[in-house]
Amino acid sequence: MSQSASKNYLNRKSVYKLIADHEAEQGDGLKRALGWASLMAMGIGGIIGAGIFVLTGTAAAKYAGPGVTVSFLLSGLACTFVALCYAELAALIPVAGSTYTYAYVTLGEVFAWAIGWNLVLEYAAGAATVAVGWGGYFNRVVQGFGINLPPELTHAYFADPGAHGLFNVPAAAIILILTALLVRGTTESSLVNNIIVAIKVTVVLLVIFFGAAAVNAANWSPLIPENTGEFGIYGWSGVLRGASVVFFAYIGFDAVSTAAQEAHTPQRDVPIGILGSLIICTILYVAVAAVATGVVNYKELGVPDPIALAMDHTGVSWLSWTVKLGALAGLTTAILVLLFGQTRVFYAMAQDGLLPQIFARLHPKFRTPAVSQIMIGVVVAVAAGLFPIDILGEMVSIGTLAAFALVCMAVLRLRRMHPDLHRPFRAPGIPWLPIAGIFSCAALMVALPLDTWLRLLIWTGIGMAIYVFYGVKHAKRQH
Ligand code: ALA
Repeated sequence: MSQSASKNYLNRKSVYKLIADHEAEQGDGLKRALGWASLMAMGIGGIIGAGIFVLTGTAAAKYAGPGVTVSFLLSGLACTFVALCYAELAALIPVAGSTYTYAYVTLGEVFAWAIGWNLVLEYAAGAATVAVGWGGYFNRVVQGFGINLPPELTHAYFADPGAHGLFNVPAAAIILILTALLVRGTTESSLVNNIIVAIKVTVVLLVIFFGAAAVNAANWSPLIPENTGEFGIYGWSGVLRGASVVFFAYIGFDAVSTAAQEAHTPQRDVPIGILGSLIICTILYVAVAAVATGVVNYKELGVPDPIALAMDHTGVSWLSWTVKLGALAGLTTAILVLLFGQTRVFYAMAQDGLLPQIFARLHPKFRTPAVSQIMIGVVVAVAAGLFPIDILGEMVSIGTLAAFALVCMAVLRLRRMHPDLHRPFRAPGIPWLPIAGIFSCAALMVALPLDTWLRLLIWTGIGMAIYVFYGVKHAKRQH
């Protein structure tokens, strides 16, 4: 590799130029449509989804027992370290590229590409995962009305052969419907998100309220069941594995940073959106986990709809139904926010020439990346139709954790590179807070299975090949 080629790989964007470009931006870019309340609702919309409504049960029954409440606390703490770092960078560099752009500023082009590519796992694969969960809840709701859809059209082709699946039509359909909404406009999407978030938070509060009244404290004892002798099955190692499983439930607060370019006052409102949504959801999650494991024995919770099952034990007849509808609503906005995030990261990458220009093209009237949104929507819909939830979900957490650790590193590096920059929001406890963030993410990654690591490696290899054959030639570099 020649010296100049190697310099290109490590080319960094100037943080001063990014800030200046942002301040000079004219009115023809992405539309500034979001205030702090909408950003916080966007965070909550992205966060509360399949994680709390499905994975709480899996983590309690298989790994942590009633200690799943501690798992939620640990995962929430790890995310708080990361969220404070996100808030600092998003307020300083309020652009759509989020983690990808932070890496471009601090570590250089090839790292930025690798992270942008890994964010596909968080946003696109995350949207597909939640859509499959949505399809599952949808089927149970229509079954409640006596309608039984054929298994060929409600299960994925690559799911368990006994399921006789061809294509999961409900999962693919919800992706396409939400894609159409996102094409139409950020204001419209945000309005729909705000309404649905209000519904799902109400449902979660009902679960906590009625569940608390039905708790049998004997179900909490012992809080952490004795380890079986195998790492990760109960005991403290089970609580840690539980934390890595429920980590999925927290994904989404960071999507607020991809909306920074569409915020009215990003320097103030994006940190409020990121931190506010995470704090609210952590409190709600810990309470729901405590209630669910207090109402029924944790061993019963290993079902696809554990929260609805727990509510069946409260004696409030309408509650289980309400939870099913609330879950459906919750999953809808999680998909919406993840699909939104994906196009914004690709938008930033295409503007830098690392992806084809079509991903940076805006619709002349709606000022959304419409073509990109449709292309991504179709690919995600096909993935959601063909693959089962476990294959998709496994990849999401590891890709996201890698990106989160990098955000913490970027904060540290930028503080050293440019200590005097005016930072509208400063993360406290530097350097210990980002270091704690990096270690927490690493600990959660270590708790994930080995085959997930291998898939991450393969995914990164594909990404690197695209970078070498496309990105390197087309990148628009500053020299
Ligand atoms: N946090 C989102 C969910 O739990 C992705 O569905």
